[in-house]
Amino acid sequence: MNPKNEAPVVVISGAAGGVGAAVARRFHASGWRIAALDASDVGLQALAADLPLAARITADLRGADACRHAIAEAVRQCGRIDALVNAIGVWREGPVEDADEADFDLVLAVNLKAPFFLCSAAIPHLKLTRGCIVNVSSDAGHQGNQNAAIYCASKGGLTLLSKTLALDLAPHGVRVNSVSPGDINTPMLRFQAERYGGGDVDGYLQGLLAKYPQGASACFIEAEEVAELIHFLCQPAARSITGADLAIDRGLSTGI
Ligand SMILES: NC(=O)c1ccc[n+]([C@@H]2O[C@H](COP(=O)([O-])OP(=O)(O)OC[C@H]3O[C@@H](n4cnc5c(N)ncnc54)[C@H](O)[C@@H]3O)[C@@H](O)[C@H]2O)c1
Repeated sequence: MNPKNEAPVVVISGAAGGVGAAVARRFHASGWRIAALDASDVGLQALAADLPLAARITADLRGADACRHAIAEAVRQCGRIDALVNAIGVWREGPVEDADEADFDLVLAVNLKAPFFLCSAAIPHLKLTRGCIVNVSSDAGHQGNQNAAIYCASKGGLTLLSKTLALDLAPHGVRVNSVSPGDINTPMLRFQAERYGGGDVDGYLQGLLAKYPQGASACFIEAEEVAELIHFLCQPAARSITGADLAIDRGLSTGI
């Protein structure tokens, strides 16, 4: 079904991040070509030193035009799109009564608007390849997280955006799923602890681990585990999976 007989192409937003880079490495290992999108040019340079990138696109993806341009550029450089993985994201926390409008706009723009318009621009190309989309949501996309209302609102939106796209695109053979990780050992987690830990980074991280059902043996999820699940969702073996939101959270969101 591919328009050209070349290795498939995965477009990854947030490719310089912890999860995005792990996704790039996993797809590269199985022969895919990588179109890497991120706001961090330094981060993309580091990724390019690690593995060959078929396209390296530095862009702040908070606007629809930026998303359309990035997808057009990926297609121009790679010829087609077989999968889109949205691993872009930012974290902000704090009580709603103290909420800052700039934080609200940032989190919604990065976590929801960017994936929305990247999907929008990629869909015509994914219809040609009968490709797939995986959006990286969060446990915070289907359960409340105390003190993280803006983030939860953005991820709840992303989870239901994914389900709706799955319905809309099913007639075209395009599958859409989301994955919902718990706390992953990435720069975002370190940012959270450093910015919101009140100077006690270890205490903040231990507070997160205390919510897991494993008790004393709880530990953070590795980005490679999330990448493995995303890679699986883009394989023919996952052809019956669409509209799913797959938890990868060590039971964090299972119940109390
Ligand atoms: N780390 C966690 O604990 C955790 C848990 C659940 C879900 N998630 C989600 O997983 C995904 C990946 O997160 P991560 O942990 O790898 O975070 P990360 O901070 O390591 O990576 C996020 C990437 O997004 C990029 N980005 C941010 N704003 C951008 C913008 N405006 N334009 C373009 N790129 C931009 C950053 O430069 C960064 O490379 C995110 O959607 C996050 O919300 C993370």
